[in-house]
Amino acid sequence: RTPLWLDCDPGHDDAFAILISALHPALNLLGITTIHGNASLAKTTANAGSVLEAIGRPEIPVYPGSSKPFSRPALHAPDIHGESGLDGTDLLPKASVAPITDKNPILAMRDALLAQPKGTPWVIATGTLTNVALLFSTFPEVAEHIAGLSIMGGAIGNGFTDAPMSKLPGEETRIGNVTPWAEFNIYCDPESSEAIFSNPVLASKTAIMALDLTHQVLADSEVQSRILHGGSDSSKEPTVIRKILHALLIFFAGTYDKVFGLSTGPPLHDPLAVAAVLSNLNPEFAKKHPEQAIKFDDKGGERFAVSIVTDGTHGQDVSITGQLGRTLATPVEGPGVAIPRGVDLEAFWNLILDCVQLADDC
Ligand code: BDR
Ligand code: CA
Repeated sequence: RTPLWLDCDPGHDDAFAILISALHPALNLLGITTIHGNASLAKTTANAGSVLEAIGRPEIPVYPGSSKPFSRPALHAPDIHGESGLDGTDLLPKASVAPITDKNPILAMRDALLAQPKGTPWVIATGTLTNVALLFSTFPEVAEHIAGLSIMGGAIGNGFTDAPMSKLPGEETRIGNVTPWAEFNIYCDPESSEAIFSNPVLASKTAIMALDLTHQVLADSEVQSRILHGGSDSSKEPTVIRKILHALLIFFAGTYDKVFGLSTGPPLHDPLAVAAVLSNLNPEFAKKHPEQAIKFDDKGGERFAVSIVTDGTHGQDVSITGQLGRTLATPVEGPGVAIPRGVDLEAFWNLILDCVQLADDC
């Protein structure tokens, strides 16, 4: 099984990233670090524990990580994820196992990753990048050791792909979801993001799931209904975990409709970063399981030098000219970041639904 560490800020879509990471039979989830982002660190930590409890994996260790970026205040997204960070259902249980606070979270990540054979473990980041930047700056040997780093983050935009992005009324250009230019995870902590993308060891091991890709993966009413009922008779009472996941999607759909006018269903951004490990973006997995590997389209392996705009102050750049947190991607020959632009949608949704089925049995 492929070992992985998940750094996340649950978060509705993060909950689905936890589901796949913890239950997929080809993955071995070593642990979770939580991060400020969709809600405060205390809330994202409680949410991670609740999701693990709900899917029957309370023993997976959760370490609370950074509560803010190094050099900026923390930002949260209650308009998208509610006050708790995971609003929409009363059915989520409280964690039965407390988060681990007697070991430094960055040390925990390092130790768990270095304990795996070199070239095998993956780091998945589905929140703001403070913990992950700390990991690679404090322990540079981890960058040499891992197989890959898969990040949900970044806004590359319409010029990069044919995939449509949602536009706010009256706006000519909108490639971001927090400002016209910037994606939330990168915008919250642009300095940490830049530290990661400017690390030459990481460049060729990194894949980013940017908004133009994640907005292709919309949890529409058909997906919502398959989550609730699976393949079974819709008159049968759904299991509690199905009710929970369905209620989370309904809440998420509501906020995306309200905030972005996206009525077809919310983009399920974060699980794409986990799906990358089960895909052609992970040559080891694709070699071992050629039939099962989900196909991401990275245009024949095209690679990019990525950098992040770090000039500016949160909240002062909501105009079209402020570009704090913008993701710049320049094609390069040789090592560089993979930025897939398409994914086999059917395979992706089957992956989600298969893991929901596994959660049924927990
Ligand atoms: C990202 O921001 C968060 O709100 C989501 O969980 C996702 O990780 C999308 O921009
Ligand atoms: Ca997230």
